[in-house]
Amino acid sequence: MDDESGVESHPRNGRTVDPPPAFTDQANVTAAEAAAFAEDWPDCWDEAGEMLDWADAYGTVFESGDGNGRWFPDGRLNASVNCVDRHLDERKTQAAIKWIGKRGERRTYTYLDLYHEVNEFAAGLRSLGIGEGDVVTLYMPAIPELPIAMLACARIGAPHNVVFAGFSAAALAERMERSESEFLVTCDGYYRRGNAIHQKNKADNARISTDHEVTDVVVVERLDDESVRLGEDDHAYDGLLADHRGEEVDPVSRAATDPLFLIYTSGTTGEPTGVRHTTGGYLAHAAWTSHAVLDLEPADTYWCSADIGWITGHTYLVYGPLSLGTTTLLYEGTPDHPEKDRVWEVIERNAVDVFYTAPTAIRAFMKWGTEHPDSHDLSSLRLLGSVGEPLNPSAWSWYYEHVGGEDCPIVDTWWQTETGAILLSTLPGVDAMKPGSAGPALPGIDVTVVGPTGAPATATEGGRLAVTKPWPGMPLDLETDGEGDDWRYVTEDVARIDEDGYVTVLGRLDDTVAVGNHRLGTMELESAIADVEGVAEAAIVDVRDGEAENTIYAFVSTDERHECEQRLRDRITDSVERTIGPFAVPEAFVFTPELPKTRSGKLMRRLLKDIANDGEFGDTSALRNPEIVGEIESALERM
Ligand code: PRX
Repeated sequence: MDDESGVESHPRNGRTVDPPPAFTDQANVTAAEAAAFAEDWPDCWDEAGEMLDWADAYGTVFESGDGNGRWFPDGRLNASVNCVDRHLDERKTQAAIKWIGKRGERRTYTYLDLYHEVNEFAAGLRSLGIGEGDVVTLYMPAIPELPIAMLACARIGAPHNVVFAGFSAAALAERMERSESEFLVTCDGYYRRGNAIHQKNKADNARISTDHEVTDVVVVERLDDESVRLGEDDHAYDGLLADHRGEEVDPVSRAATDPLFLIYTSGTTGEPTGVRHTTGGYLAHAAWTSHAVLDLEPADTYWCSADIGWITGHTYLVYGPLSLGTTTLLYEGTPDHPEKDRVWEVIERNAVDVFYTAPTAIRAFMKWGTEHPDSHDLSSLRLLGSVGEPLNPSAWSWYYEHVGGEDCPIVDTWWQTETGAILLSTLPGVDAMKPGSAGPALPGIDVTVVGPTGAPATATEGGRLAVTKPWPGMPLDLETDGEGDDWRYVTEDVARIDEDGYVTVLGRLDDTVAVGNHRLGTMELESAIADVEGVAEAAIVDVRDGEAENTIYAFVSTDERHECEQRLRDRITDSVERTIGPFAVPEAFVFTPELPKTRSGKLMRRLLKDIANDGEFGDTSALRNPEIVGEIESALERM
């Protein structure tokens, strides 16, 4: 597909790829089922509700009325029963969680093991006085105690509030204050690239820095470090379990509309905003999309490489796969340690059936080279998924060819912390894939694009992506516009919808750049650059040069195989001219080994903007690779 200039043909030139027939033959959802599902909103979502076990069956699927309406309003259920208890009859000895620790540890929890530990920990939490409605903050890396604590909270009806382990003490304190959470479960520490991170110290500092009262702290002991001492209000996790050995806790039945958990959005700008997801609608949406989009089966070993601290980990590492009785893999390490073939080794060794990751990871794998996936047997894979950013066509092709062996469909899934679960994606056994485009709205979901005034925009212009009917995974307190047929949730994403209903996300509203009279999505421009051979990733930034017009800078990280910069620049120019137009070619190029990324893997465009504008750059504590800042500054000076 590459031509001589190294520029890939663009998805809008019409490349589509049909799902492999062998996949279609076994897919969880057929074309006929999808068509039938799409027909009668909202009752189609009864099929998702029926995937769950209810303590009190619901009579109504969706009740409009107050605000955004309510899903399964008269039903009651418990999420831990759905993720654990109900699998015991058939899957007692099957692995529920397979954990691969950072120091080579391996632990497998069968569904029966999970049942025991969730119950014992739920009894432990109860003994601390934690009850229905109390918010429990969980501040741990990818260790099994994290999903166990989530399920134990769910069992007693206490909403959990998972805070990403890499966040600072200040960020933890802020999230505990905002959620009025008085209880914390953390660990003494963990290892990162060989160094011990003292998580408990961060938790203690968070407690000191706030007036907000934190009454009890439970500590999972992970480090062999005598210096970590438990204080008066601290409880050792193992001690609590031992005190409640063999106890069973009656699951608290929750209204479908009661919150299952809170999560703060991971934006790179602005204040953290809490989102509350429901017990019934969220879980039904998580289960249905895991079945229909990720095509999960109980017999599968499934790996979602996201951190549980983000929504993807909540929905597609914990609640989705466990509600279906699947084996979910929890991997604590980094993808390039001990070697850059680590991910492929884990897939081969565990015979992973379905792998779900992010474009930023796929582009890193590409940069490391095909020899790594090529040296492993990846034939266990049946389906590949992507989430978090647009998957540019060259990354799509690399993933399809070198990881999937052209036998696995790719689902490029669009959704958000706010949506709770997937809203846009191809159905893997039904729809053709268009590399670069996320795909159509799922059956039962309706989307459109709207212009600046809120009026529908034409497909070619593009506009803000808006969801025009409520969906089950909708959170409580979602900010929406209009009522009845005018109801909609308008996102900050700018998108275009083609004649087949496929949505291409062009960028965030806050991530567009002005080029002459045009507003251009940074993602669109970045994708055109990233598709050039020799380029790993690109970031577009708008630089204000005194009173003069804006200048567009392209920060480009390159492949390990070093190239002549001028040749690369020519190829990029050619690609941008061909896919967007000559007006969009950036005025300046800065070549750098890496781009600055937050710990959640999001590009920190604001920081690049500040550096390029010669301004003061603010807080860089969210950066995973702060050392790159100096390198970029000196590259700019050399220009
Ligand atoms: O801009 C979209 C982008 O990620 C945003 C949501 O981020 P967050 O709430 O952190 O949740 C990430 C995981 C669900 C969206 O508004 N995004 C997510 N998936 C895609 C995407 N952009 C393009 N294509 C996707 N598949």
